[in-house]
Order: sequence, then C-alpha cells, then structure tokens
Amino acid sequence: MGTRGRWGTKFGFVLAAAGSAIGLGNLWKFPYIAYDNQGGPFVLIYLVCIALVGIPIMIAEVLVGRRANRNPVGAFHALSPGQPLWRIVGWLGVASGFVILSYYSVVAGWTLEYSIRSITGYFVDMEATAITQSFVEFLGNPIRQVGWHFVFITLTVIVVVGGVSKGIERWTKILVPLLFSILIVLMIYSMRVGEGGKALAFLFNLDFSTITAHSVLEALGHAFFTLSLGMGAMLTYGSYLSKDSDIGKAVLTISILDTLVALVACLIMYPIIFANPELDISESIGIIFTTLPYIFQNMPFGQIVSPLFFCLMAFAALTSTISLLEVVVSYAIDELKWDRSTATILTGSIIFFFGVPSALSNGAVGWLSGLTLLSKGGQKLNWFDSFDYLASNWMLPIGGMMIALFAGWAMSYKDKKEEFETGKVGFAWLNVNLWDVLIKFVAPVAVFLVLLYKLGIING
Ligand code: PFF
Repeated sequence: MGTRGRWGTKFGFVLAAAGSAIGLGNLWKFPYIAYDNQGGPFVLIYLVCIALVGIPIMIAEVLVGRRANRNPVGAFHALSPGQPLWRIVGWLGVASGFVILSYYSVVAGWTLEYSIRSITGYFVDMEATAITQSFVEFLGNPIRQVGWHFVFITLTVIVVVGGVSKGIERWTKILVPLLFSILIVLMIYSMRVGEGGKALAFLFNLDFSTITAHSVLEALGHAFFTLSLGMGAMLTYGSYLSKDSDIGKAVLTISILDTLVALVACLIMYPIIFANPELDISESIGIIFTTLPYIFQNMPFGQIVSPLFFCLMAFAALTSTISLLEVVVSYAIDELKWDRSTATILTGSIIFFFGVPSALSNGAVGWLSGLTLLSKGGQKLNWFDSFDYLASNWMLPIGGMMIALFAGWAMSYKDKKEEFETGKVGFAWLNVNLWDVLIKFVAPVAVFLVLLYKLGIING
C-alpha cells in the first residue's frame, strides 16, 4: 500500500480499533437484538462468543496484519506464497465491507437527522407516541432516507481520501472518552428515573427456556459484527501497528471497551422501555431513536445532552464506516492499481447506489418494503435486513473461520510466537500457547458447527 501509515502511539491503535469496533452495532443493533432474543441467556452466549471466538480471532487478524504489513488480500498471499486459495479470504472481506457499508450508512444517516432534530428542539414537549410516529414517518420519507445515506457515504469518503491514521487518531482520542462519559451519565440517569431493576433482571436473567438455535447463531454473528471481525478491518489496522505493541493486551482492551458500550447502551434504553409501556417498540429496529429523545426531553440539561449524544453516535458510526471503506479501498489500490482518490470516490459511489434500495426498504417505497430477498428462521426479510443477515450471519463468520484456520494451521508456530511476544508487557496467562489452542480448535470448530446448523446439516 503506497500510503501505508503508522499509528502515532500504541494507544492510538487501541482507540482507532476501538473506534472501528464501537459503532452502531453496540448502540443501535445490540440493544434491539438482545431485546428480541429475551435478554439474559442471549447476552451470556454472546459474552462466551466474544471470549472464546471473538478475542482469539481479533488477535489473529491483528497478528497477520502486522506480520504481513499489507492489506487483507495481499497479506494472505505474502504469508503463504504458493497457496493462492487463501486470497479468497481477502476477497470475501472486501465483499463484506461493500455489503455492510451499503446498509450501515443508511442507519448512520439516521443519526445525522436525529442530531439536527435535537439541535433544533424538534422533540420538545412531544408525547412518547408522537416520537415513535415521527420515526416511522422519517423511515417513510424517500428523500431523507437516500439523502442522509448519501451525506454519510460522502463524509466517509472525505476522511478515507485524506488517509486515516492522523485524522482518526487525533479525533478518536477525544471523542471515544467523551462518548464513554456521556453513556455512563445517561445510564445512571436512566436507571434512576426508569425501571433499573427490571432492566438488570431482563439483561442478566438466566432463563434458558427462551433460547432458540437462532439466538445462538445471532449471538455468534453479532460477536463478529461488533468486533469488526471476519473481513480484514482489524487486519488492515493491525498492519499499521508498530512492533513494540503488545497485541494480546491491546485486543483485550478493545474487546472489553466494546462489550461495555453494548451493555451500557442496553441499560440506558431498557429502564425507559420498561417504565413506559406506552412507548411502542414493536419496531424494535428503531428503539434507540424512539426511547432516547423521550429520555432527553425529561432529563435536566437534556437539550444539551441530546445533540451531543446523537453527534457522538454519528461519530462512532463514522469511525466504523471508515474502517469498512478502508478495506475495499486498500484492495482497489493494491490489486487494481488505482490511486487512493479514484479508488475511494469510485468504490464509495458504487456502494452508495448499492445501498439505495436498503435506504428505501424500511417503508419509503411500498413495493420495496414488501420485497423479500432472504428468510431467517422462516421469517421473510426485506432488502435492508437481508443484507444485514447475509453479512453478519454468513459472510463475517465464514471469513473469521478462515482467518482462524489460516493463523492456526498455515502460519508457523515460530512466526506466531515472535509476533505474539514482541512488545509483550502484561497478562502472563494470555500467552501464545493458550491462544494457539483457541485459534486452532475452539474458534474454527465453534463457527463450523454453527454454519452446519444453519445449513440444516445438524439439528439441535
Ligand atoms: N463493529 C462495527 C459496529 O459494531 O458498529 C461494525 C463494523 C465495522 C463491522 C467494521 C465490520 C467492520 F469491518
């Protein structure tokens, strides 16, 4: 990669990678899928997936990236010359980045609309039902849906054209801690004014009778999505990492931060949902956009916290979309020999057009909303949901499994040990041997079983 950069500091990498991981997956998606899957047991399975599959695979990605010092397609090639099949993993990653960005940017666009609505005081004195109604109307407005999607892709393109390391690193250092602080304040407030006890009981109940096979698949798929795994984003970021950083410790920090944000997001929304039965959350896809304006309206300083929160959410989304586009762009630069600006503008435009049907399929265009592409557990999915399902439940797990197999079996133990141990500073238990067992056996077998199950080859 011609414009190959380096993170300025070790902490810069942790924050940029955390910026990629922390995004709409934590703030928008996790609260609604955990809600749809009855909370507790789903959350526990999700945590197990993060620990046994997510963390080992993130270590693998960062390690392969740093070792090869290349983009995903080139990295596999460089580390296993003569075995061209591994390049497929890189291509799959590029395709995943393309698909995810096309619908992710639609939701990211919603955060911009909500930032502006909060700044202009749109929600002042609105009833809960009116807030929900206005969200549904917003989903039904084709110009706004496509317009914000366009604006968000454009913002992403602007950052990626300029190169990421300096810009992102500088901003994430301020904005990630700020996002954290606001989330904690909101959680405390919402737990106090809402039904905090009920929210905790829901989030941590252990009634396994509610768990279905689909919940397990969804938990694993989401572990990949939320940690930005399975498509080479962490691999690309790892390739900018200096040799004196401790990969294990960095990955652990990123994963813990990511998980905390997801849980805190639930503890902001659930107390309010349980305290206000009149809040209509049948459209669970939008709970963050229907519960939060309601919280802000009633809380002290809500008029200040509200715009700040939605702007930070937009920023959290931007640090994720940047990493999605960067994977596609780094491939186009290296393999197709395009220059960075052409690569970014061209791929960004194609992704924009590809995402237009997603933008219109949540109610803006009747026939598109009714059009179903795929089905999940017998339930038909519209265009938007189909791509989300395809990417998080199939493409990322398959990509992740292949990365695990590569790091586990195709790389030499000597190389892995060296990468794992340079710069190592802490956590004696997190050593190359433990990781090697997880990456060779536990992670790929877990994903493989889940895929077999999905294909209907095994039944549970
Ligand atoms: N991890 C991001 C989130 O949780 O919002 C989404 C994402 C970003 C997925 C980058 C994959 C990726 F490569």
